[in-house]
Amino acid sequence: MVLATAGGLALAVGAGVAAAQDQGQVEVLHWWTSGGEAAALNVLKEDLESKGIAWEDMPVAGGGGEQAMTVLRARVTAGNPPTAVQMLGYDIRDWAEQGVVADLSETAKAEGWGEVVPEALQFFSTYDGQWIAAPVNVHSTNWIWASKQIFDELGLSEPTSWDELIATLDKIQEAGHVALAHGGQDWQDATIFDAVVNSTGGIEFYKAALIDLDPEALGSDTMKEVFDRMAKLRTYVDDNFSGRDWNLATAMVIEGQAGMQMMGDWAKGEFINAGQTPGEDFLCFRHPGTQGTVTFNTDQFVMFQVGEEQRPAQIELAKSIMEPEFQASFNIVKGSVPARTDVSDEAFDACGKKGVADLAEANADATLYGSLAHGHAAPASVKNAIYDVVTAHFNGEYDSETAVEELVNAVAAAQ
Ligand code: BGC
Repeated sequence: MVLATAGGLALAVGAGVAAAQDQGQVEVLHWWTSGGEAAALNVLKEDLESKGIAWEDMPVAGGGGEQAMTVLRARVTAGNPPTAVQMLGYDIRDWAEQGVVADLSETAKAEGWGEVVPEALQFFSTYDGQWIAAPVNVHSTNWIWASKQIFDELGLSEPTSWDELIATLDKIQEAGHVALAHGGQDWQDATIFDAVVNSTGGIEFYKAALIDLDPEALGSDTMKEVFDRMAKLRTYVDDNFSGRDWNLATAMVIEGQAGMQMMGDWAKGEFINAGQTPGEDFLCFRHPGTQGTVTFNTDQFVMFQVGEEQRPAQIELAKSIMEPEFQASFNIVKGSVPARTDVSDEAFDACGKKGVADLAEANADATLYGSLAHGHAAPASVKNAIYDVVTAHFNGEYDSETAVEELVNAVAAAQ
């Protein structure tokens, strides 16, 4: 009896493995290595495995994906690209231009992607009229994540203006906590910069400076104020901030050591992964002065040109990513919102529902713009040039006036 059961089990397991191999395999390059990110990735992995497709994981740590893009370049140069690659904004267009990505148009047409993916996202999923990427989510960078415990302890409420934000940070610091949890890495500094440009000058200023790269906006007094504000925020981070990974900064808020973190909504994935609940354990609100606007980034999976034998599994991966049910279950865990307009927000938590509503509002009001920090405002050359200035200033190498001059010059040189 026992033996028969064990044999039956062994058979079932064996059959499962055989089926997985039968449907092919995908090799996926990504930078989802934090606890929350890995949990979200697992939703995709398991979905594919249930369809009989084996998953070969190729993680390359580093938020914003810089390191992942370096590894990708080496793989493509060696003539051995992965099946699919997590990618952001202008990087997708750059790779498409090089003629090495696969065409998904037939699948996109059959599945009606064009009707449900917002235009702002399609700008990055299509190139020369062809679909080349499957968007899995929409994140945004103008969020603040706060410790409910510290806010309750100090009787604080959500700040709605710059002055209130500063008063709140002061109170947290005076009480002996780290006021602002931050990791000193260029892309994290730039993530705060996105929000501060938006809150200081408004979303039209954000567009003029970081999307249109208008030299007047880049060199303006408003931009000087942006840098002054960045310098002010720098006074609220702890001494050990340099080089810290973003998820370790989130952990400081989760553990009640720090009052807040200014970070995209992938941070929510960390709170959820730690078993926390919005409104009970942590708070999510928009960076003061940016409510009604969204600076977004969308993770898209770009398919590379692979051998014919790998093609069916690649197409199945793209189709699975775009399934409405999958987009709901994945994004609930990831902290982002679906890349399709026809997915119900019913199963999302309070922050997720807010994310869905804010995105719809910003899309309708034309206050939805790509994040500079996460590659959706300008090509990598410009993005990296801005990173350098923002980080040098944040670390005290330039005063605000010099930073403005450097910004204008660096952007001009990078174009
Ligand atoms: C990606 C997110 C990721 C974050 C931190 C962003 O650029 O869009 O999916 O969680 O980087 O790694």
